[in-house]
Amino acid sequence: MRILGLETSCDDTGIAIYDSEAGLLAHRLYSQAALHAEFGGVVPELASRDHIRKVLPLLHEVFSATGTSPRDLDGVAYTAGPGLAGALLVGGAIGRSLAWALGVPAIAIHHMEGHLLSPLLEEPAPAFPFLALLVSGGHTLLADVRGIGRYALLGESVDDAAGEAFDKTAKLLGLGYPGGPAIAQAAEAGQPGRYRFPRPMTDRPGLDFSFSGLKTAVVTAVEDADRDPQTVADIALAFQEAVVDTLIIKCDRALQLTGHRRLVVAGGVSANRELRSRLGELVGRQAGAVFFPRLAFSTDNGAMIAFAGYQRLAAGLREPLTFTAQPRWRLDELPALNDNPSPLRD
Ligand code: KG4
Ligand code: ZN
Repeated sequence: MRILGLETSCDDTGIAIYDSEAGLLAHRLYSQAALHAEFGGVVPELASRDHIRKVLPLLHEVFSATGTSPRDLDGVAYTAGPGLAGALLVGGAIGRSLAWALGVPAIAIHHMEGHLLSPLLEEPAPAFPFLALLVSGGHTLLADVRGIGRYALLGESVDDAAGEAFDKTAKLLGLGYPGGPAIAQAAEAGQPGRYRFPRPMTDRPGLDFSFSGLKTAVVTAVEDADRDPQTVADIALAFQEAVVDTLIIKCDRALQLTGHRRLVVAGGVSANRELRSRLGELVGRQAGAVFFPRLAFSTDNGAMIAFAGYQRLAAGLREPLTFTAQPRWRLDELPALNDNPSPLRD
């Protein structure tokens, strides 16, 4: 089965073809980061227009790179939410109509399910069940994952997402957009111990997150400091440590609570090297295993959408000719697949 995936939920246009026999055949990504950088964040209308410009050229690229044509597709998967309404409509309109024209099924994919399943594209793939930590620009959540579509939400951010906190802090420090990689880079020159920020909501039970207070603590520190490069690096380091510590504490708690030994971590912030290494240590202490997507698939991409689409289409899920963008969409509302088509269970 050969599935085309389209990702246009935010500021990345991602197109990929996944084949159930041969694996990922090709993927292309166009990042709009430079377009939004001067505004310090994503401008929704500019994002939608740029997706319109990029989807068709990228589609042509993946077909020519694989020597295939649209006629070779067995289905089309597109991100239907959560995300920016206008941006979602671009991938949805093109994906749905292409599938109709080809006479193949289409499937609407939840962006966070795409992230959640992205480590399954790697070797070794995690077997179900597992604990998932999803950390992106729009979401921070912990889920008990029993199978595809069988997601019990254990905790989520009550305000800013982890990636959003990175982006806002980078803006405060004058480090540009997107903030995550900029903070991580600045932090490398930071002196440990000069600043210390709170680890929000770790002093009480529960698995929810809150990152807006941390941002306020950074605002105060920035207001009281000179913005020389060393101070910026020191604040970046202390901020990254606070976020990573918070995520580690909550993952540890969730692992204890669920008894899972396998931890899957995905979404843009999972590209963070410090987070990857600290999570590795955490599961190492518990004789468990941690699974990440490859770095290129930590952030948004079409491969994870093609893969999630394959899982759902192969299980027989279909949708009508109409399509809807769902800017808000809960992960635990997705239909569960009883029989997973790929041999992912241990
Ligand atoms: O998953 P993603 O590409 O898009 C959303 O679904 O939101 O995540 C983007 C987020 C941004 O907030 C970005 O700053 C953050 O991921 N990010 C990072 C790193 N690379 C990207 N955060 C921390 N460290 C990184 N290396
Ligand atoms: Zn994402």
